[in-house]
Amino acid sequence: MLLEGKTALVIGGGQTPGETVGNGRAVAMDFAREGARVAVADRNLASAQETADLISAEGNVAQAFELDVQHEASIQAVVAAVVSAWGGVDILHNNVGVSLAGGDAVVEDVEAATFDRLVHVNLRGMVLACKHVLPHMRAAGSGCIINISSMAAWKPYPLVGYKTTKAAVIALTEQLAAQNARYGIRANVILPGLMHTPMAIEARIAPDKSREQVVAERDQQVPLGRRMGSAWDVAHAATFLASDKAGYITGVALPVDGGLSVV
Ligand SMILES: NC(=O)c1ccc[n+]([C@@H]2O[C@H](COP(=O)([O-])OP(=O)(O)OC[C@H]3O[C@@H](n4cnc5c(N)ncnc54)[C@H](O)[C@@H]3O)[C@@H](O)[C@H]2O)c1
Repeated sequence: MLLEGKTALVIGGGQTPGETVGNGRAVAMDFAREGARVAVADRNLASAQETADLISAEGNVAQAFELDVQHEASIQAVVAAVVSAWGGVDILHNNVGVSLAGGDAVVEDVEAATFDRLVHVNLRGMVLACKHVLPHMRAAGSGCIINISSMAAWKPYPLVGYKTTKAAVIALTEQLAAQNARYGIRANVILPGLMHTPMAIEARIAPDKSREQVVAERDQQVPLGRRMGSAWDVAHAATFLASDKAGYITGVALPVDGGLSVV
């Protein structure tokens, strides 16, 4: 097993309700299948608990925590609880990100308060999670941080909050990698493309647009197989990056996008 004996903290490990599995939940489940103990943290405790229950049902180890990335004290408390229970954090996976559901808009329409909230949720939360986990990783002389950005950072995307915060997550990751390599800590960022997750689908269904139309429009844009990826594609990339097989890889921005970035 790739992550035997490791402790992972997955922030945003619940999921938006819907017909498919979300990225954060799939990552938490895959880490656990590879032998990690997983702390599943989410603003929605019930959803984090559902993920933890799915992991336990597979005979693996997880604990759910309530955590809102907008509140530093909440991040600090969960990190302290995980360190106290399991002795440290080997893997920090920052999954939280919102776009349409956060009220995002094009630049000429965006409200200042909405933009501030998107920065807090999508970017500042990752900065603060790293701030509180890094001292423990440095003390251990090892660790791995995985941040979730989006192909929206590289390709045209209309909504300003998501576009700019996801681009900043790449810069954050490069800085984390550069400044923590000397402590044996790696940091990498995944750029999912068009994924078939509730977060991406549910908010786009409208009276004049059915689920089938939303799915079909997204599927046909993807070069590889003309279909969206699934949360498991993101999870498998994250598990690889978290594992010792990626032990010489840091500062990388990895698209998981079925070739979207090269067309
Ligand atoms: N699905 C896609 O097509 C796609 C594409 C590119 C990037 N992404 C990125 O993937 C990540 C999320 O994917 P997902 O499928 O897991 O989404 P999801 O919405 O199912 O899960 C995100 C989780 O974050 C939690 N959350 C939201 N705000 C929070 C806060 N303030 N504090 C703590 N938790 C909070 C939600 O409760 C939810 O459980 C995001 O970073 C998103 O930008 C997704």
